[in-house]
Amino acid sequence: MTVVKNICCIGAGYVGGPTCAVIAYKCPDIKVTIVDVNPGRIAAWNSDKLPIYEPGLEEVVLACRGKNLFFSTDVDGAIQEADLIFVSVNTPTKKSGMGAGMAADLAYVESATRRIAEVAKSSKIVVEKSTVPCRTAQSMRTILEANSTPEIHFDILSNPEFLAEGTAIRDLLSPDRVLIGALQTETGIEAQNALVDVYTHWVPRERVITTNLWSSELSKLAANAMLAQRISSVNALSAICEATGADVDEVAYACGRDSRLGAKFLKASVGFGGSCFQKDILNLVYLSQQLNLPEVADYWHQVVIMNEYQKKRFVRNIISTLFNTITNKKIAVLGFAFKKDTGDTRESAAITLIKDFMQENARVAIYDPKVEREQIYMDLAEPGVVDTQKEVEKKVQICSSAYEAAEGADAVVIVTEWDEFRDDQLDYTKIYAGMNKPAFLFDGRLIVDAPKLRQLGFKVSVIGKNE
Ligand code: NAD
Ligand code: UGA
Repeated sequence: MTVVKNICCIGAGYVGGPTCAVIAYKCPDIKVTIVDVNPGRIAAWNSDKLPIYEPGLEEVVLACRGKNLFFSTDVDGAIQEADLIFVSVNTPTKKSGMGAGMAADLAYVESATRRIAEVAKSSKIVVEKSTVPCRTAQSMRTILEANSTPEIHFDILSNPEFLAEGTAIRDLLSPDRVLIGALQTETGIEAQNALVDVYTHWVPRERVITTNLWSSELSKLAANAMLAQRISSVNALSAICEATGADVDEVAYACGRDSRLGAKFLKASVGFGGSCFQKDILNLVYLSQQLNLPEVADYWHQVVIMNEYQKKRFVRNIISTLFNTITNKKIAVLGFAFKKDTGDTRESAAITLIKDFMQENARVAIYDPKVEREQIYMDLAEPGVVDTQKEVEKKVQICSSAYEAAEGADAVVIVTEWDEFRDDQLDYTKIYAGMNKPAFLFDGRLIVDAPKLRQLGFKVSVIGKNE
């Protein structure tokens, strides 16, 4: 029976960092080393200001850093010491070449796998933690097996991560399920059991699902696609609600009360963001195309198309409500992160909306409680175009409070559902007093009490409502 004593995690990002910090926290008998090729990121993990914001993360890291949790740039050393290695590197959408704009770029997974094959001096369990297309483990296995010797054997597992940002620590401490896929061979099953033993330090055994490798890989893409599909479904309904007088919150509630549907993930919004939903669905679309299943590919692609439509529809509504022009008008954008309780901005709907506002020559003032000023400028600049950051700085003001952003604004647009933007937390009387009149408010997250704000004088539009 294999007992894991030493874990290495390659990739100290949003997944590798929190996931392996929680493993260290819950398994004091295991040494966990998280490595990355980015020295800045590792330095931040070793500092007082962690590189990512996640509620509860700091406490977990501080409890075990320097005891059984280490962050290092010594990738080779950590690989050599480990008996189990998580590969938790980024798998972004390919920007060029075959499958550009759709397929996952597996260059980082491959390079991490090759590194393991090159430097390992003993047998390893290699765990695919990154989200990858179905059958990626086969390529990893081929690379590893080409470097196996009678003394060094590699087993490969798939253990996709289901945490959501903003609730990562809660999700990791109490997951709905942990999924571990393995080749159904004697050593594959032994490796699978070894990883089961790591998780059952704190996760009840009945929540640990064991499957074959390919089911595990595909389940991750499937889960993200189905979650995103629910949002696109409710967002599609929000357009019908606005045209008919139905209320999307009431419709979602009525549908969600059916226990077969369930209440979660039915919140209409300005569109889903985040580093994974779009990437993983496009990945599934590409996989379906490659498998010569065009109807399947089109079916999933529509989830992304609907998401783009929702963002554009929201912008169109703002422009038409503001008398068909926003040129030189000041738009206060509340929230820049792709969801509350994270500083992550990857694929945030805010980026698309603000770029559209800038195209229309509006003046934009942004406030987000967690996103750094430099990150906002970087996200709004066009990659590869010289001096666009300076252009952005001319048109965009970054503010340190919602009040500052709304001062002199023609419209306030709620893009991220931070609790502090709720009408019981933010002083909307004060916001209203500082704005140009008529003062418009667009709620892209259904977090304010529209009738109450109308009484204050605001002209309020809410996604999926037409009151
Ligand atoms: P990330 O970009 O935050 O982190 C990846 C890290 O890997 C980077 O710091 C990078 O420098 C490092 N890296 C890349 N190649 C390396 C190499 N060869 N050696 C050492 N380090 C290397 O990415 P992330 O958000 O943590 O996502 C990682 C994977 O997990 C992706 O496949 C993603 O789809 C999946 N995932 C992400 C989330 C999420 O909430 N962000 C949730 C579930 C699954
Ligand atoms: C999502 C999944 O929820 C995780 O299970 C998965 O592990 C992860 O992707 C991943 O693979 O990266 P995440 O993107 O961090 O997690 O956050 P979500 O809570 O899923 O939100 C994604 C986007 O959908 C956000 O922009 C959010 O505001 C939006 N959303 C979510 C809605 O618009 N409506 C909803 O009802 C729920």
